[in-house]
Amino acid sequence: MELIVTDNYQALSQIGAEMIAGVIRAQPDAAVVLPTGDTPMGMYRELAERKRRGELDASNLRVFQLDEYLGITPDDPRSLYGWLARSLFEPLGIPDANVVRLPGDAEDQVAACRAYDQVVEAAGGFDLVVLGLGPNGHLGFNEPPADSHAPTRLVDLSEASIESSARYWGDKNLVPCQAVTAGMVQLLGARRILLVVSGAHKREILHQTIAGPVTPNVPSSYLQRVSNITVIADRDAWPSKRDE
Ligand code: PGA
Repeated sequence: MELIVTDNYQALSQIGAEMIAGVIRAQPDAAVVLPTGDTPMGMYRELAERKRRGELDASNLRVFQLDEYLGITPDDPRSLYGWLARSLFEPLGIPDANVVRLPGDAEDQVAACRAYDQVVEAAGGFDLVVLGLGPNGHLGFNEPPADSHAPTRLVDLSEASIESSARYWGDKNLVPCQAVTAGMVQLLGARRILLVVSGAHKREILHQTIAGPVTPNVPSSYLQRVSNITVIADRDAWPSKRDE
């Protein structure tokens, strides 16, 4: 596990963006998972800036959606696909045809999740998975308890996730109670993983993630068993601050 501590969120965003840009340059058609959430937005702005300057061509990238709320259509303001489209696909010029959705509005979720996993398998797995860290250690919406074999599936959202997502939509009651998520087994099998963590409110869960017992109760703790992982945390999120 490579650990990088940055002075602040801006530096985290720059270093994270450079890492993602490096993967795109080395493999323009890489199969990548790029998440929603507040933490990755600074990286996406950095990447968009590089594209504007003509330094980055992401038009061949294959992006797999990490998670989506159940029953939410792409045009719903709460659609995680829509959030990615606005913050990433449009500014980076990633065509819709290159995006593998997790359709939260599919009638048969079991079939939709199986189809997603088949596309991941056909792609040879993920080249890069970028993840934020949930307040309860969730990765995507792999809510605790989730072990390392959990497949892509429909899940009930935990109270902690619903509370934490309320800031995205303005009210807890607007957060759907269920979601589909890429599975632990697909995510942990990636050739490279980047975990980005920002803010003092993530300090305790980051500590559990990198130094606590590996347990389904903290799904992110399984990252300790992955070899090619980089964690970028800003100083506020870094666990040693707990002792200051
Ligand atoms: P955040 O979300 O980046 O908005 O903190 C992370 C997550 O819950 O996965």
